[in-house]
Amino acid sequence: MLVTGGAGFIGSNLVRFLRRERPDWTVVNLDKLTYAGNAESLSDLREDPKHVFVHGDIAEAKLIDRVLREHAVEAVLNLAAESHVDRSILGPAIFVETNIAGTQVLLDCARQAGVKRFVQVSTDEVYGSLGATGQFTESSPLRPSSPYSASKAAADLLVLAYGHTFAMDVIVTRCSNNYGPYQFPEKLIPLMIANALEGKKLPVYGDGRQVRDWIHVEDHCRALLLALEKGRSGEVYNVGSDNEWPNLQIVTRLLQVLGKGRELIEHVKDRPGHDRRYAIDASKARSELGWTPRIGFAEGLQATIDWYLQNRGWWERVRTGEYRSYYERNYGSR
Ligand code: NAD
Ligand code: DAU
Repeated sequence: MLVTGGAGFIGSNLVRFLRRERPDWTVVNLDKLTYAGNAESLSDLREDPKHVFVHGDIAEAKLIDRVLREHAVEAVLNLAAESHVDRSILGPAIFVETNIAGTQVLLDCARQAGVKRFVQVSTDEVYGSLGATGQFTESSPLRPSSPYSASKAAADLLVLAYGHTFAMDVIVTRCSNNYGPYQFPEKLIPLMIANALEGKKLPVYGDGRQVRDWIHVEDHCRALLLALEKGRSGEVYNVGSDNEWPNLQIVTRLLQVLGKGRELIEHVKDRPGHDRRYAIDASKARSELGWTPRIGFAEGLQATIDWYLQNRGWWERVRTGEYRSYYERNYGSR
C-alpha cells in the first residue's frame, strides 16, 4: 500500500487506521513534508516495521517509480495535495504543480508499475456551492470555485480519464469537511480552538453563515478503506455524514465548551469567492460499500477539543514553526 501525503491531517490518521485495521499490510507513506506535513504526527509509528516513511514528492517520477517497484506496491491512496483554499487564493501555482501535475506523474508511474488499484482522495468542493437546499450527488456538475477546488477537479478528471483510456483500476472519493486530531491549525476548527486557548480573536469570514458538512476523520478513513476494498472500478463515491453547521454556530459551540466568551469572535473580510454551502449525499457509499458514519458530532467534537487540550505541545510547535525541524532532529542522525 502506498499512502501519499501521510504526514498530513487525514493521511496520518489514515496510516494509523490502516495499521490497526489491516495489521498484515505494509504501509509505505510518501510525503514531501511541506508546511502542512508534520513528521511528529507519526511519532508513535516510528518503530513500526510495517510503516515505511519516504520523504519525497509525488511529482518526482524516478523516485515514485523506485518506491512502487521496491515495495511491490499493490494499491495507491493519493492524499498528497495542497489543501488550503485561502493559500490557493494567495498562490495558485503550487496547487497546479502538486494537485494536477503531481497526480498525473503518480498515475503514469502506477500504470507502468502495474499497480492494481488507484484511489484518488478528492473533495466535495469540486461541485462548487449550493443554495439553501439540496445535496451534491456523484452526478452533480463540477463547478469548482477556488484554485484549490479547480485543481482537485482537474485531478479527478485525469484519474477517471486514465481509468477509461488505459483500463487502469481507479476510484475517486469526494468527502466533505473533516475534523479530528492532527489537523493543521489553519483550518477552521483547530484554528479557533488554538486561538481561544491563547485568548486571541477568532476570525470569522463575512457573516459566518456559510454552511459546511462535517465528518470525523476516522469515518472518512473507514470509507477510504471500503472504497479500496469494495469500490467498483471507475466509480466516484461521495462521503459525508449529514451533519451541516453554519460556521458561526461551530465557533460559538467551541467557545462554550472551552469556557470562553463570545467577545473573542471577530468578523473579518470574507474569503474571495467563498462557497456558501456544501452538503453531501453519500447514499451510494452507504448502499454499495456498506459504509456508515459511526462517530456522532457531539462525541467527535468533544473528543477533538480534548485532543487539542491534551496535545497543546503539538499545535504550539506548529504555530512557532518548531515542528519543521522535527524530522531532522528525529531522523537526521539515522
Ligand atoms: P493536509 O494539508 O493536512 O496534508 C497534505 C499532505 O500532503 C501534507 O503532509 C503535505 O506535506 C503532503 N504533500 C503536499 N504536497 C506534496 C507532494 N508534492 N508530494 C508529496 N506529499 C505532498 O491535507 P488533508 O486535510 O490531510 O487532506 C488530504 C487530502 O484529502 C487532500 O488531497 C485533500 O484535497 C483531501 N480532502 C481533504 C478534506 C478535509 O476536510 N481536510 C476533505 C476532503 C478531501
Ligand atoms: O469540503 C472539503 C474541504 O474542506 C477540503 O477539500 C479542504 O481541503 C479543507 O480545507 C476544507 O475546506 P474549507 O475551505 O471548507 O475549510 P476551512 O477550514 O478553511 O474553512 C471552513 C469554513 O470556515 C469556511 O466556510 C471558511 C470559514 N473560515 C475559515 C477560516 C480558516 C472562517 O470563517 N475563518 C477562518 O479563519
